[in-house]
Amino acid sequence: FRSVKTLKNSSSHLLRRGYGSEAVPERKVAVLGAAGGIGQPLALLMKLNPLVSNLALYDIANTPGVAADVSHINTRSEVKGYMGDAELGKALEGSDVVIIPAGVPRKPGMTRDDLFNINAGIVKGLCEAIAKYCPNALVNMISNPVNSTVPIASEVFKKAGTYDPKRLFGVTTLDVVRAKTFYAGKAKVPVAGVNVPVVGGHAGITILPLFSQATPKANLPDEEIQALTKRTQDGGTEVVEAKAGKGSATLSMAYAGAIFADACLKGLNGVPDVVECTFVQSNVTELPFFASKVRLGKNGVEEVLGLGALSDYEKEGLEKLKPELLASIEKGIKFANQ
Ligand code: NAI
Repeated sequence: FRSVKTLKNSSSHLLRRGYGSEAVPERKVAVLGAAGGIGQPLALLMKLNPLVSNLALYDIANTPGVAADVSHINTRSEVKGYMGDAELGKALEGSDVVIIPAGVPRKPGMTRDDLFNINAGIVKGLCEAIAKYCPNALVNMISNPVNSTVPIASEVFKKAGTYDPKRLFGVTTLDVVRAKTFYAGKAKVPVAGVNVPVVGGHAGITILPLFSQATPKANLPDEEIQALTKRTQDGGTEVVEAKAGKGSATLSMAYAGAIFADACLKGLNGVPDVVECTFVQSNVTELPFFASKVRLGKNGVEEVLGLGALSDYEKEGLEKLKPELLASIEKGIKFANQ
């Protein structure tokens, strides 16, 4: 721990799990794309997280206003805004966790892969800066297509000589959040106690919720499991269509991003048994990257957990998703090396 402060009388209980008034180390979190649809509510939620001591809000435009606004909230972290390339290094320096929701979102009719041409370049540039200014940070990649942007990041870090597979994460938490919500509705159980692993990737059929492992058990009929699976896979599109050209999921994504970053911070701080589904370098299948349950620890990934027992329907879904996921991974690797 770089230094230790004692947190007493914190006014925020949001996102607070497992911490009392014991010593909490200083942690800097940087949000890249902080003035965007996801970035703003994510900045708010990170400001409410008592594990954060410094919050750096970076974007190519509009960060001074967002940072001034968020900084007035009377919680622990000190907030600073950074705008434009010249300030990126300062935003990143000393970061423990870097969250990346920078880039364009989908419009109706678009797939996540349609975002590749713009977002791949944005992510590449940001990761080059991360390699230079905070090579040891845990990187939480939100920018789509996650199935390609995570491999792009890995290649950029390899070239810079800073790649550590334990520190690079594709954020798939929103798929888990959706699977839990939709399952609780169908199973008629309180959502707070629901758990559903979601594996694979983060686009269409590459999103594979494992409802056979959902708890509490509900014994839903096959048709309902299939409908739940489809709704989880199409959850993002449901929002894109409802927003009718005004972007994709931002509020639920900010929530999901805050949950995942909080898990990373807890892992760094040595909280035991922090497990989240996330898209990481993996040996779980023959694919080089794959989302599954991951135990988080002081160095990032502590253990990539296996898939567990799958139903026949899930086994079929797993085989179906592999070619598409592999193609997206290879597309990212090729882009980064061209
Ligand atoms: P937005 O357009 O509202 O915000 C994006 C922000 O990124 C803007 O403020 C923009 O100025 C900024 N930006 C652009 N280039 C930048 C650069 N080089 N450096 C720093 N900031 C830069 O978009 P929104 O809705 O916030 O979505 C952001 C990304 O998140 C999209 O790629 C979207 O597809 C993805 N997303 C991912 C989800 C997931 O589950 N992983 C869910 C929902 C969206």
